[in-house]
Amino acid sequence: MHVKKAIFPVAGLGINFLPATKASPKEMMPVVDMPLIQYAVNEAVAAGITELIFVTNSSKHAIEDHFDSNFELESKLIEEGKYQLLEIVRNILPERVSYAYVHQPSLQGLGHAVLCAKHLIGDEPFVVLLADDLIDGGQESCLQQMLNVFHENQSSILAVQRIPRADAKYYGVIDVSPGDQKISKIQGIIEKPTPADAPSDLAVIGRYILTPRIFSLLEQTTQGAEGEIQLTDAIAKLLLEQPVYALQFQGRRFNCGSKLGYLEATIAFALKHPELSQNFKQLLRDKYMPR
Ligand code: G1P
Repeated sequence: MHVKKAIFPVAGLGINFLPATKASPKEMMPVVDMPLIQYAVNEAVAAGITELIFVTNSSKHAIEDHFDSNFELESKLIEEGKYQLLEIVRNILPERVSYAYVHQPSLQGLGHAVLCAKHLIGDEPFVVLLADDLIDGGQESCLQQMLNVFHENQSSILAVQRIPRADAKYYGVIDVSPGDQKISKIQGIIEKPTPADAPSDLAVIGRYILTPRIFSLLEQTTQGAEGEIQLTDAIAKLLLEQPVYALQFQGRRFNCGSKLGYLEATIAFALKHPELSQNFKQLLRDKYMPR
């Protein structure tokens, strides 16, 4: 079955980045010259996703505006003959892609956000992308790597990466049989465990392919870690009924939910930006890392 729908939960408050995120969404923070949400959207669209569902709240209009046309800006760019920028602004989304916004009335966690999109997904597998997790997959994006596996086995699949055990409290952590297989069947999963309770050092990174069965399990899920309805808790029930796989993807993940991760992403993406790379390297060398 072809996966064509993606959910982007974007209703969070971005508390880690206050005051920057007081009036503008954290997903609109730029890494070099593109907002975080667009990196995630581009990853989805390049992997063949054609229906985007943003789970948002009333203070996130900037995201809707970003994906909408801006006639005033476009006419100004035409008037000034800035056709290259015009193309960029007009092609934020290809025409074949449609999008919808769903409001999350109260912030009850990731599981709750996903459940808010149930009526737009229906009875088909779908993906969830968290824009906070910016992933540079290199040749093939993280989502594309996951879809390659999905096309073979039609089962739910989560992106995972090794983390220091001390960081387990920030993640969903999976239980798998020992070994270092790239793809493994998940035997258990727990949200934000203490390092002692963590079943492994493999943490879920914000990319999921899920079967629609997850929705009825989410409906039965009560508050878990941090008092929220956790997607992880519903996945823990799903894997008792259906196989759920973990993929240790190729690529670098930047945790843009933290200031340090965000700064690292900015440096990494500036260093490979076609227009900036040379000058930025020189700037770093001359001013910030002088011998
Ligand atoms: C969410 C998920 C967690 C996952 C993480 C990845 O946590 O609940 O299982 O490991 O994203 O970034 P959050 O970062 O929203 O606390």
